[in-house]
Amino acid sequence: MRLDSFQKIEPELIRKLKLAGINSIESLAIISPVDISKILEIEIDEAVSICNKAAIELEESGKISRSSLIERNDRSSHNRSYIKTGSQELDQLFGGNGIETKAITQFYGRSATGKTQICHTLCVTVQQLQNSYKTIYLDTEGTFRAERIAEIAKARGLDPSKALQNVRCIQPLNSARFESILQQDLLLQLNQENDIKLLVIDSIINPYRAEYSGRGMLSQRQSRLSKVMHLLQQIARVHDVAVVITNQVHTSVDGYSYCLADSDRPMGGNVITHTSTFIIRLKGNSSYLMAEMKKSPCYPETVKCFGINEGGVGDISHGHMD
Ligand SMILES: Nc1ncnc2c1ncn2[C@@H]1O[C@H](COP(=O)(O)OP(=O)(O)OP(=O)(O)O)[C@@H](O)[C@H]1O
Ligand SMILES: [Mg+2]
Repeated sequence: MRLDSFQKIEPELIRKLKLAGINSIESLAIISPVDISKILEIEIDEAVSICNKAAIELEESGKISRSSLIERNDRSSHNRSYIKTGSQELDQLFGGNGIETKAITQFYGRSATGKTQICHTLCVTVQQLQNSYKTIYLDTEGTFRAERIAEIAKARGLDPSKALQNVRCIQPLNSARFESILQQDLLLQLNQENDIKLLVIDSIINPYRAEYSGRGMLSQRQSRLSKVMHLLQQIARVHDVAVVITNQVHTSVDGYSYCLADSDRPMGGNVITHTSTFIIRLKGNSSYLMAEMKKSPCYPETVKCFGINEGGVGDISHGHMD
C-alpha cells in the first residue's frame, strides 16, 4: 500500500519518510517507533501514534488480522499458505502441511545435516504451490548453488531456467550489509512484488559469529540479532511470507557432555529461540537424516527421517530414497 495514499499523516512527514526510503504503509508499520522518531526528528509519542495508525490501516485493509476486541475476527486474514518440504515424512512434523507463511521456521544442526539442502528444495517446492511464487535467498555462508536449484527443479518436473528466475540470491559481505538489505532493499522488494512467498536466511548466525566474537561483544550481538528477528517476524506477518532460517550449533568440547544425546544447542541464545515460531533440530548424515520438532505452537515434538537426492529433500523407504 503506497505511502502517498495514507491520509492519516501530514504530507510533509510522508515526504521525509520517502526520502528515508520508506515508501509503503507496510514498511511504516514494521519499522520501530524509535527509528521513526529519529528519521522524522519528532518525539517518540508522536512516532508511536504514526506507527499505530499504520498498523490500523493495514488491519482495515485486511492485509493483517484485526486487533479489535469488539468485532469478530475475520478468518480470511488469518489464512496461511503451506510449502511442502519435499519429504512426506518431514511434512508430518508440520501436521502434513509443510512450512507455513506468516511464521519463522528455524532448522538447526551440525554441518552436513541438510540445512542448506532443505532451503534449496523449498525454493522449488514453493513454485509447485504456485508457479509465480518467488524466493529471496540471503546466503551468508556462500553455499547457494544455482545449478542445484536447476537440478531439483528438473527432478520435480519444472522448467529449470524458469524455476531459477523465481529465486533471487543475495550474498551480503558482512552483518552491516545483511541488516541494510533486510531493512531497505527487502522491504522495497516486498512492496513491489506480491508473489514473494519465501524468505530464506542461510544462516542467521554466520555474519555475527565472527564479527561479534567473545563474551565482551555478547550483549551487542544479541541486541542486533533481536532487532533482526523482530523485523523478520513483522515481515512474515505483514507480507504473508514463510521465513526460513538456518542456525549453527554450540557443540560441547568436554567429553562428558559430548556423549549426551542432546548436547548440541542452537546458537544465538534466547533471542533466536523465542522469536522462531517453529524450531527443528537436524541430525545424522546425508544418507539418513533425522528431524525433530523442538518448538511448535501447534504440533507435537516428534522425530521423522528423510534423505537427500537429486530432487532435494525426499523420503527414505526400506533404506532407499523414493
Ligand atoms: N545433489 C545431491 N544429491 C545427494 N546428496 C547431496 C546432493 N547435494 C548435497 N548432498 C548432500 O547433502 C548433505 C547435507 O548438506 P547441507 O549442505 O545441506 O548441510 P548443512 O546442514 O547446510 O551443513 P553446513 O552447516 O556445513 O552448512 C551433504 O552431506 C551432501 O552430501
Ligand atoms: Mg549449509
